[in-house]
Amino acid sequence: MHSRSVVLLALITGLGAAHCGGKDTGSGSVPGAGAGDAQTPPTGESAVEAWLDDGHYKTWHCEPAPHDARPGSAHGKNRICSNDLLSAHGAGEFPVGAASVKELYDATSTNIIGRAVYLHASPGAGESYYWYERVSGHLNADGLGTSGTPKDSCVACHQGAGAGRTGHDLVFTQVR
Ligand code: HEC
Repeated sequence: MHSRSVVLLALITGLGAAHCGGKDTGSGSVPGAGAGDAQTPPTGESAVEAWLDDGHYKTWHCEPAPHDARPGSAHGKNRICSNDLLSAHGAGEFPVGAASVKELYDATSTNIIGRAVYLHASPGAGESYYWYERVSGHLNADGLGTSGTPKDSCVACHQGAGAGRTGHDLVFTQVR
């Protein structure tokens, strides 16, 4: 009986750590980034989820309602919020500290099924952004755009912003 529950526990722990089949979700440690104040998301899954739950981003510049994914989007129904630095910026590279949150909705636009976040963590291009996404309990990205999903998916697509699509410098949507 005793050894059986140990085996079961090991199984459950193993499953929990696997995160959707052991995909490379990126590295959670982001030097110098993630103050976790009202304008700046922290980094790392548990800190980001707690910060999102606190709802600071809802005081940012937010789209009024969820909308269908825009052309070229990987995201489904969503609503986007821009922090002050991202919202106010003009042409060229976004300043360090610029951040976006995207709420991802189910098909009826009533329930939030996940959230995506990025933060410009240090000067530079996609590798200098922190990328985070968890949808329906699956962690898709949690790290700098230097490796894994943050690099191969988030940065690979977001660097198309401005090139025949809306936005510029990795940012598709600036909510003013
Ligand atoms: C295939 C292209 C594609 C991929 C891959 C992609 N995105 Fe996006 N993303 C978009 C587009 C297009 C938008 C803007 C509008 C929309 O989604 O309706 C967007 C919007 C966003 C926004 C809102 C701010 C903005 O720039 O509009 C966030 C935050 C975001 N994505 C995070 C991520 C993260 C994190 C990943 C990686 C897990 C990711 N995205 C992967 C295309 C993509």
